[in-house]
Amino acid sequence: MKEKIDALREQFSRELSGAGTSEAVEKLRVAYLGKKGSVTALLKGLKEVGAEQKKEMGQHINQLKRQVEEKLSEQVEAIRAAEEQRQVEAAEQYDVTLPTGGAVGSYHPITVVQRQLEEIFASMGFTIEDYKEIVTDYQCFEAVNIPKDHPARDMQDTYYLENGQLLKTHTSAAQNAIMKKYGAPLRAVFPGRCFRNEALDASHENTFFQMEGMMIDKNISISNLIYFMKTMLSEVFERDINVRLRPGFFPFVEPGFELDISCTLCGGEGCSTCKGSGWIELCPCGMIHHNVLRAGGIDPEEYTGFAFGLGLTRLVMMKYGVGDIRDLNSGNLKALSQFTHE
Ligand code: DAH
Repeated sequence: MKEKIDALREQFSRELSGAGTSEAVEKLRVAYLGKKGSVTALLKGLKEVGAEQKKEMGQHINQLKRQVEEKLSEQVEAIRAAEEQRQVEAAEQYDVTLPTGGAVGSYHPITVVQRQLEEIFASMGFTIEDYKEIVTDYQCFEAVNIPKDHPARDMQDTYYLENGQLLKTHTSAAQNAIMKKYGAPLRAVFPGRCFRNEALDASHENTFFQMEGMMIDKNISISNLIYFMKTMLSEVFERDINVRLRPGFFPFVEPGFELDISCTLCGGEGCSTCKGSGWIELCPCGMIHHNVLRAGGIDPEEYTGFAFGLGLTRLVMMKYGVGDIRDLNSGNLKALSQFTHE
């Protein structure tokens, strides 16, 4: 009987090495371990073996059974790994030069408008600055004249991190660093993603984009502010845009304004979008507060400047007539690709 067991072991090894697919391995499992399998048959055959040999032979057969089980699952695993490897290699051979069948990518509408604005400002001598999304309390608030217990903080429901830093609530958080980087005179715009813990609806998101700008030089006045805003907005909307200023309060500017543009939908006649007024609030701005200039290392007796915080997301919604702000962050290609073809 011992010879029979050894012969079966050898036969199994031979057949296993020829089993290259999981179906073939399964067939082997049935052939050896199934109800009518050869190992099972050996176990049944133990009945005929004399009592003195039974125990020893039983051990041999069980050992063979375990080996067969182990080898079978090893083989299944090896086949699976080889298949995975084959798929990886096939993926690596993906030919990027093949035609896409019509599905081409497009830029996000916010990216399109941001780049357009950058180009316009660059042509007016502004540098484009990049800035962090995680900032300190000082950068976001104190440096722009919002001390610790100032009520203006309540307007910006802030995400604080465990280490005391925070997600920037407005692009004004970069003002201080940029003044310190360049000193005066200065012309810079800095687009960025901002975060506030807003209750979400069609016009409120917890993540949105702004584009901040600063111009600091000798004798900068409100006229300069109006001129730059009007020029920039007319370029964005590709037609002459009327602007008007209303007083507005922001701790980092004095005086501060809300800049309205003539409604792009009705041309100023009055419609539902502008609530019949003919004007749309688009860009808060103002003359940079002396405390802000001083914190940035610039002497307010020598230099003045204006700053603005354009709602980039808002502008995109205006320009493309997007009714629900949530579409912009949705990643929904159907919603997004209709706006852009670049
Ligand atoms: N940081 C303000 C906000 O997000 C917007 C703002 C207002 C920025 C006036 C400015 C400014 O630079 O002058 O609510």
